[in-house]
Amino acid sequence: MTNAQKWVTVVLAAFIFLFILSDILKEDTIIRHDDFQNYGTGEFNEERSQDAPGLALIKQNGCLACHGQDLRGNPNLGPSLYNAKKHWNRDKLINYLRSPLDYSRDPRFAEYKNQFRNIIMPSYENLDVKDLGTISDYLLGLQGE
Ligand code: HEC
Repeated sequence: MTNAQKWVTVVLAAFIFLFILSDILKEDTIIRHDDFQNYGTGEFNEERSQDAPGLALIKQNGCLACHGQDLRGNPNLGPSLYNAKKHWNRDKLINYLRSPLDYSRDPRFAEYKNQFRNIIMPSYENLDVKDLGTISDYLLGLQGE
């Protein structure tokens, strides 16, 4: 072998090595992707999927922090949502969630303002209207006081 041939061999070997290495790394990411997909079907998700879609969205969006873990209200932070069905229909409730301030002139809300001092019901206009519809359906379907 001449020197030039040795170099060609070394460079070729390096290429083959890199090629195999990149292939291994590629497979590695694919495996990780599969792992990630498995999380979706794992226990954690099964636990969550027991929630109705509306309740899952309510939990995801932090409503429980103010309206109570059972949605029956928190004395300082927010009213029970079991009353929603008395006061709203689906369209109005979606509008309310998008823009609560539009409804602040209602005398009922003057009382809330007094009871929940300094707490502001956030506007959820950033949420998909479909999701707000799902939340509204859930709230309007709550049975009991
Ligand atoms: C930071 C606390 C807070 C969070 C978070 C919050 N709310 Fe409220 N919510 C309030 C307060 C306080 C009121 C009372 C009205 C007011 O002050 O504007 C209220 C009022 C309401 C009402 C009207 C109740 C009635 O009697 O008509 C509904 C419905 C409602 N919230 C739903 C939700 C939903 C759904 C979420 C989550 C997507 C949510 N809220 C998140 C504080 C909160």
